[in-house]
Amino acid sequence: MTTRRAIAPEELDTLNLADPRLHAESDLSAVWRHLREHRPVHWNPPTDTAPGFWVVTRHADVTSVYRSSARFTSEGGNVLETLLAGGDTGAGRMLAITDGERHTGLRRVLMSAFSPRALEPIVESVRRTVNRLLRDALEKGRCDFATDVAAGIPLGAICDLLGVPDRDRAHVLSLTSSALGSHEADSTAVDAWIAKNEILLYFAGLARDRRDSGHSDVIALLAGSEVGGLPLDDDEIILNCYSLILGGDETARLSMAGAALALLDHPDQWQALKCGDAGIGTAVEEILRWTTPALHSGRTATADTEVGGRPVGAGEIVTVWNASANHDEQVFDTPAELRLDRTPNKHVTFAYGPHFCLGAHLARAEIGAVLAGLRDLVAQMEQTGPAKPVYSNFLSGLSALPIALKAA
Ligand code: HEM
Repeated sequence: MTTRRAIAPEELDTLNLADPRLHAESDLSAVWRHLREHRPVHWNPPTDTAPGFWVVTRHADVTSVYRSSARFTSEGGNVLETLLAGGDTGAGRMLAITDGERHTGLRRVLMSAFSPRALEPIVESVRRTVNRLLRDALEKGRCDFATDVAAGIPLGAICDLLGVPDRDRAHVLSLTSSALGSHEADSTAVDAWIAKNEILLYFAGLARDRRDSGHSDVIALLAGSEVGGLPLDDDEIILNCYSLILGGDETARLSMAGAALALLDHPDQWQALKCGDAGIGTAVEEILRWTTPALHSGRTATADTEVGGRPVGAGEIVTVWNASANHDEQVFDTPAELRLDRTPNKHVTFAYGPHFCLGAHLARAEIGAVLAGLRDLVAQMEQTGPAKPVYSNFLSGLSALPIALKAA
């Protein structure tokens, strides 16, 4: 179980939804419910150091913002951290923060590496890794599920995609954690900035080695492709490698650790999974909805417009909250219940529209492998200590989950 202070809707006007501690240490479900019902498009006021921003909470409004990259651009940044800091240097070059034709062209190049067929060998290796990590944990009888199991899975898959050598993987993992979801309440934006720059430098080195080297990984794919009739330059290759590692590692790890916690907290659902009443396919989707590792996405209005009937000015920051949309009563029957056989399940965990997560198939396969591994190899699990949250206004989940487990 996790103990988080429930925030009452009356406290809404004192909250800053950009504060990482708020998301890590409290339960905002009553606030989201209140906003969806009474103030679905809410203005989070400016602070001394950062501008204000719109907070969009209903599923229908969230998907309508996601759908229209002409009205709501990602090029000013797509998360609060960069939007509030005044922009992202990768704009127009990194897939997630590029719009229009260049986005379409770049996405087309990368899609070939992310099709279910292309990913088959990687998914096969994910299954082997999951089984190895679970067997190691079962042998010891206890583990930290977040660091000993979940952390060992997605980065390995992305490193396979990118052709990162084994010897560098632990280093890349520690940089990724510091750059995005902070595991400590007191780590600073400077730590994150340094880690990001170290990742970029690391990929600069790797990209240099890969040009004309006959490799078949994503770095080589980017190096050999053209967008708009021109080859990608080194910066574009590096930035897009970086975006895969940042977009696909911690998010997936958090969903897997969150899956284990969800099963520990809901013994009836653990039984439903074990006896086959809930299949892996629907369980994966429900875990994605339940954990919602990416709390929000951000955009900038390109012209005066409206969202959910509220006027939004040109240049204003608009954030859409997957965490709220995934619990919208208009779309989900009993959204506060974990139901591993839920169908339909129109969650927006991977966003929606033109920027829909490129790694969705891989992430689903990873979570599916963990759920199948737990179902087939583990008879019993028990939480043995407090779970620790990550501190971020963008990522949500656990950096530690100590458990004891017994083999089936
Ligand atoms: C985009 C979530 C796994 C790569 C996105 C977006 C979300 C998201 C919400 C849209 C961002 C926006 O609209 O601004 C997640 C979650 C994951 C996950 C929750 C795991 C549970 C992965 C993996 C990879 C990946 C495994 C790759 C290895 C990307 C890329 C984009 C993206 C490249 C940008 C797509 C575009 O702009 O066209 N992801 N993601 N993600 N994701 Fe994921």
